[in-house]
Amino acid sequence: MAACGEIFYMDDKKTVVVTGGASGIGEATAHRFARAGWQVVIGDINEARGEKVATQIGEAGGACVYVKLDVRAADAVQEFAETVYLQCDRVDALVNSGGILQNAVRTIDLDMDEFDQIFAVNVRGTMLVNQVFGRHMIAAGAGSIVNMCSLTTFRASPQPAYAPGKAAIKSMTETLAAELGPKGVRVNAVAPGYVLTPAMQARIDEGKRDPGAVIERTAMGRFVRASEVAEVIYFLCSEGASAVTGTTIPVDCGWLVSTAYGAYASQIEDAT
Ligand SMILES: NC(=O)c1ccc[n+]([C@@H]2O[C@H](COP(=O)([O-])OP(=O)(O)OC[C@H]3O[C@@H](n4cnc5c(N)ncnc54)[C@H](O)[C@@H]3O)[C@@H](O)[C@H]2O)c1
Repeated sequence: MAACGEIFYMDDKKTVVVTGGASGIGEATAHRFARAGWQVVIGDINEARGEKVATQIGEAGGACVYVKLDVRAADAVQEFAETVYLQCDRVDALVNSGGILQNAVRTIDLDMDEFDQIFAVNVRGTMLVNQVFGRHMIAAGAGSIVNMCSLTTFRASPQPAYAPGKAAIKSMTETLAAELGPKGVRVNAVAPGYVLTPAMQARIDEGKRDPGAVIERTAMGRFVRASEVAEVIYFLCSEGASAVTGTTIPVDCGWLVSTAYGAYASQIEDAT
């Protein structure tokens, strides 16, 4: 396991741990917190990208280290947390952005190995990281956690492993919020719409997502930017959200409302 940078812990700074911080929404989140003066620990399975993002944040004047993490393995999550807490007395916020996507497939055709892989990262991984850091936050009597849901948390989708997993994360978030609230720890989730991250771009390049259909189905007529998801995550971890716990906030350019509205049985003629 790569070690935390030696210069790392500073008493006067808040610390955020971002799993999946090497790419996409997690990367944007790492940058957002660093710009606000937090010290950032990126935990990610991708060493090359994790190191690169930490270096970029450092070059921009922020404090960030990369520590290797595979959220699928309980001992790896434990070791990761020990490495972090060796250097940091306190972790003020945890963002669980480590995850994998799924291409469309019918439930009856789903390969159960794919189901297991997706659940191992997205659901079990999120659970493990929540457990380990949740224990430390309870001991500290403070902290904020943000988990990563999706539009599939709320709507049927031909992603029969990814979608139930993202629904499970909403339930996990609510259970944790109820359990950890009395201990001073808030737990929320964001549900991003379509974000043009490297993972999403790869699906588009393979012809597995139609960007035109995405744009057409949002009220705002565009993709969500990773930085816009990061902004809501940052808010949820800030004092501004001090009474907010157990919520799952869509950040979707109005995809949820627009798809429901567009499905109404008769359409209104445009008078304008
Ligand atoms: N991109 C979207 O449109 C979108 C929409 C809704 C939700 N999400 C969710 O947001 C999260 C981030 O997605 P993204 O689009 O930024 O993807 P991404 O691939 O750009 O980033 C995901 C990161 O997770 C890391 N990761 C994967 N497996 C891991 C493991 N076992 N242990 C540790 N790290 C691991 C990857 O290395 C990568 O750096 C995921 O949970 C995804 O389901 C994405």
